[in-house]
Order: sequence, then structure tokens, then C-alpha cells
Amino acid sequence: MKKLFLVGTGPGNLDYILPLAQQAIMESSDIVGYGLYIDLLGDLVKNKTCHTRNLGQETERVTLALDLASAGRVTALVSSGDIGIYAMASLAFELLDRHPKPEWLEVSIETLPGVSAMQVAASKIGAPLGHDFCTISMSDLLTPWESIEKRLHAAGQGDFVVAIYNPISKTRNWQINHAREILLEYRPPETPVVIAKNLSRENEMVKVVSLVDVAAEDLDMLTTLIIGSSDSRLLSVQNKQRVYTPRGYSKVLK
Ligand SMILES: C[S@@+](CC[C@H](N)C(=O)[O-])C[C@H]1O[C@@H](n2cnc3c(N)ncnc32)[C@H](O)[C@@H]1O
Repeated sequence: MKKLFLVGTGPGNLDYILPLAQQAIMESSDIVGYGLYIDLLGDLVKNKTCHTRNLGQETERVTLALDLASAGRVTALVSSGDIGIYAMASLAFELLDRHPKPEWLEVSIETLPGVSAMQVAASKIGAPLGHDFCTISMSDLLTPWESIEKRLHAAGQGDFVVAIYNPISKTRNWQINHAREILLEYRPPETPVVIAKNLSRENEMVKVVSLVDVAAEDLDMLTTLIIGSSDSRLLSVQNKQRVYTPRGYSKVLK
């Protein structure tokens, strides 16, 4: 059977790759992905034919993976975190939907989820995603800023916890400061914000700042933020900062 695995490999450390994802990689002869992600896979991709492509070559990566799979090579297209969250899986289905080569339609596709950056960030600090949340990407490369702005206002109005992906890149940095100003219209300046960098990689850093203090210059491309809702709380447990968003048990706990 012609087979393509779409595999989420977690945020960095191999310990975060789910067994099903490891199994898919082991069954594949060919691995396609961004060079850094493939390097992070270490021994898992030993003896595999690896096809690395740079950032910005997303369409090439997905096209190559579909070409290899339709030529009969069992192929894994890998992406960090969850491959369905701001990653390659949706592009694979978009190409199949809008620009399919006839042979691609013979390929059986299986998606293997991965642990997303926001989940690891949350786990390192407590439980900030404990109640309703949304994720918003600050990348206006493919999404007009007006749409991102609209979503930020909606998140503010709905009082959602907001996980922010792609806060800045090499070519843009002003969006996160605008996001801060929009959310400050709806929630207090001292709202806790988790800043998580290089999760499960070298130089991992997780800290909490107030919403009013979020600033583009403190962030980089490998940063995820979790902006609390008006219910999110910061506390200290054994001298360690913790953030959580309650589900409302205070009404039933006596
Ligand atoms: C294109 S998105 C990919 C998201 C990925 N598919 C996921 O589920 O985590 C890239 C963004 O993910 C976040 N990210 C990915 N890996 C990270 C890590 N190790 N530490 C912190 N943030 C990370 C950053 O916000 C980065 O700008």
C-alpha cells in the first residue's frame, strides 16, 4: 500500500515523541522535514533516507513527501510539536484538495499527533490551560493582520486564555506588542503571562510576567506565550511560580 505518515515529533526532546509517532518513523524508509527537526530525531532516523528542506520551503517539503509516497516509498513527513497545529498536515490536505497530482490520490495518509508547544509550556508552570482557551499565531505572512486583530478582540471579549504561537520572526516583531495592547483593553495589566522558550531543548526557559510587561524584545522565534484569562491566578508553591486557570470548583469546594 502507498503510505504517507504525517508525524508530530513534539517540541524537541525525544522523550516527548509519542510511541505511535516513533512507530510510524520506524516503519518509514524516507523522512522529509526541516533539517533541525530531523537532526533532533537522532538515532530514530539512522539508516533512513532523510530529505531536508529549509524553513520557507513548506510546499516543496509536502510535495516531495507526496511524490515519494506515491512512488511506493513509505514516507514520514515530520514537523515539530503537533503536525496538525500551525504545521504541515493542513498543507498536505490543501494540496490534495486544490492541486492534486492524480497519483497522490492513491496514497493512504495517516496523521500521528504530537505534543504541542503550548502543552509543554503549560505543564512546566502549572495548569494555565485549565479552562477555555484559544491559540492565535502572530504570523501575518499568510494571514492578514486585520484577521489576527479581529481574533484577538474576540479572545478578549470571550475572556479566553490565549496561547500565542510565532510571536516574532526574523522579519517581524511588532505584532505581539499590538496583541498586548488589544488584550489590555479586556483584562487587567497584572494578568499572568507564561513565557516559554526553547521548550525541551537546550537553554529552556519558562517564566511568568504581567501582561503589561510583555515586550517583543524579550522573545524569539522559539517562544510560546500563554496569556491568562481574567480568572488565571499566579501563586507560589515551594518557592516556585505556578499559574493555573480554575474551572470553577470553588463553587463546590467548601
Ligand atoms: C510554525 S509553529 C509550529 C507549532 C508546532 N506544530 C506545535 O504544535 O508546537 C512554530 C511556533 O511554535 C512554537 N514552538 C515550537 N517549538 C517550540 C519550543 N521548543 N519552545 C517554545 N515554543 C515552541 C513557537 O511559538 C514557534 O514560533
